[in-house]
Amino acid sequence: MAGTIDEARLGEFMGQMAGYMTGGALCFGVWLGDELGLYRALASAGPQTAGALADATSCNPRLVREWLDGQVAGGLVGYGQATDTYELSAEAAAALADDSSPVFVARGMNAFASLFIDHDKIADAFRGSGGISWGEHHPRLFSGTEWFFRTGYRAYLPAEWLPALDGVDAKLHSGAKVADVGCGHGASAVVMAQAYPAARVWGFDYHAPSIETARERATEAGVADRTTFEVAEAKNYPGRYDLICFFDCLHDMGDPVGIARYAREHLEADGTVLLVEPFALEDKAANLTTNPMAALFYTVSSAICTPNSLAQDVALGLGAQAGEARLREVFEAAGYSRFRRAAETPMNLILEARQ
Ligand SMILES: C[S@@+](CC[C@H](N)C(=O)[O-])C[C@H]1O[C@@H](n2cnc3c(N)ncnc32)[C@H](O)[C@@H]1O
Repeated sequence: MAGTIDEARLGEFMGQMAGYMTGGALCFGVWLGDELGLYRALASAGPQTAGALADATSCNPRLVREWLDGQVAGGLVGYGQATDTYELSAEAAAALADDSSPVFVARGMNAFASLFIDHDKIADAFRGSGGISWGEHHPRLFSGTEWFFRTGYRAYLPAEWLPALDGVDAKLHSGAKVADVGCGHGASAVVMAQAYPAARVWGFDYHAPSIETARERATEAGVADRTTFEVAEAKNYPGRYDLICFFDCLHDMGDPVGIARYAREHLEADGTVLLVEPFALEDKAANLTTNPMAALFYTVSSAICTPNSLAQDVALGLGAQAGEARLREVFEAAGYSRFRRAAETPMNLILEARQ
């Protein structure tokens, strides 16, 4: 035990714990609301009783009422006592019901669900070698990751990130070749193919089921004619490209230096690497205390990203909070002469590397 307990500090700490427990429970409640279509039905019909919502979603009315009251207590859903009706504000509908909105977060909860589904594997990795490959996780991780990041790619990638790179936007408009390495379900590749119809986009990932889903996503989005998705390791995909991208994945890989070097060797003359990584402040103490995403990113990194890296060749274990200076070292070691921050959001650092 670390010293005598101060009752005031204990009360404060337990209040913090109550907040985290509520957050954990509401992550589940949000997942359920998206999975069962409860938010979409609430958003589409305006204020409604629990019974009407249960009818509209073919769900059990008693359970729907209990879920709704939890949502109201958590401040996500509004309640009118006089009419005993529930409703979603426009803001809540954007975050929870409309999967085309730039702030939609509900479906990303699948990633949190996967942590609990995979709890034994993760605990075993902590007690053992530390390694868990991406494909060993429950598929909810793959869809959760897709939806966690997809919103940001749709909001920022064509509008801000690609135009922030030196000369890349113009090249893409006139028909550049793009590789999206570690493309997962293809969220970023599809966004690029939609925004730049003259460009040709190749998505590579070593996880075969993700590549199959990426192909389906491209077909659904009407860009299958200009995208190609292939199973490939980040150190053995074919071809040369004007732009090679790593979206929220380089830190998951065992050998980021070797992978960045392989990318340099597969760039066309004057090509660019776009590196998108989770946002982190340079100073570790400042990052731990003032980056609002740090607790989430470190925790997820300890259970998913770092174990994936430790399961691969070299096993560098960069982690999801490596930060710009550490990432610059990786690219300098891989032989790049230029590396700069092109843009940032509260979630991501957008970095540009040139030969
Ligand atoms: C966190 S996910 C990001 C997926 C996608 N880029 C996105 O932003 O939605 C990391 C991805 O990297 C892939 N990956 C990890 N190590 C890899 C490697 N050595 N070669 C190719 N893909 C790899 C995983 O299969 C997974 O799809």
